Amino acid sequence: MLDIHTHILPGMDDGSRSVRESLEMLRTLRGQGVDTVVLTSHFYAEEEDPDSFLERRQKAYDRLVSGMDGDDYPKLLLGAEVCYYIGVSRTEGIERLCIEGTPLLMLELPKTHWDRSTLEETIELATDGRVIVLLAHIDRYLEYNKLDIFEMLSMRGALMQINAGFAENRKNRRMLKSLFRSGLVQFIGTDCHGMDIRTPRIAPALEMIGRYAGDDGLSALDFYEEEFFI
Ligand SMILES: [Fe+2]
Repeated sequence: MLDIHTHILPGMDDGSRSVRESLEMLRTLRGQGVDTVVLTSHFYAEEEDPDSFLERRQKAYDRLVSGMDGDDYPKLLLGAEVCYYIGVSRTEGIERLCIEGTPLLMLELPKTHWDRSTLEETIELATDGRVIVLLAHIDRYLEYNKLDIFEMLSMRGALMQINAGFAENRKNRRMLKSLFRSGLVQFIGTDCHGMDIRTPRIAPALEMIGRYAGDDGLSALDFYEEEFFI
């Protein structure tokens, strides 16, 4: 099982603050059956260029790996959660921010109603053939944007991820079912930031998906994990 969205790399962003906390987060995920974890630290283009981000990320990764003991840890893949910015679709070398070994670029869109230029730029990025856009936690945008906007982006090739916290909340069961039934969601992630808040918790979400989205849900997650990660 895969956790495609985490902030586990120590000291990279507002996620884990130490190697020790990162290792605890990884063990917690492993205990829930997760065997692959993608490390998607925040990337903010207005604060940092990709070179500096990648260098910092490598250092954090090396620190994390050197702290690993004999315990059973999930396999780690490097990635980034790229915060949308004007010009993202024209950024040379943006594919360097894709999830390791895949063409998936995790994109975080603004938590608002998306204006025309944001949509146009997202479509441009999704269709120019360099990357496959993977929209992070679409559950956060549902209250600002109608479902047909997500369907339009999906038809242009964008893949989508929901957060485990959304899926495990029983209040969202109808929406959960409808998202999977319409084929909008391919991935789930914990978006975990630490051991105290936004914790690495995925098992209850998978149970809810199994219960309310049935085959449309769990088999979609399996299919896309196999497609890109195995
Ligand atoms: Fe995140």
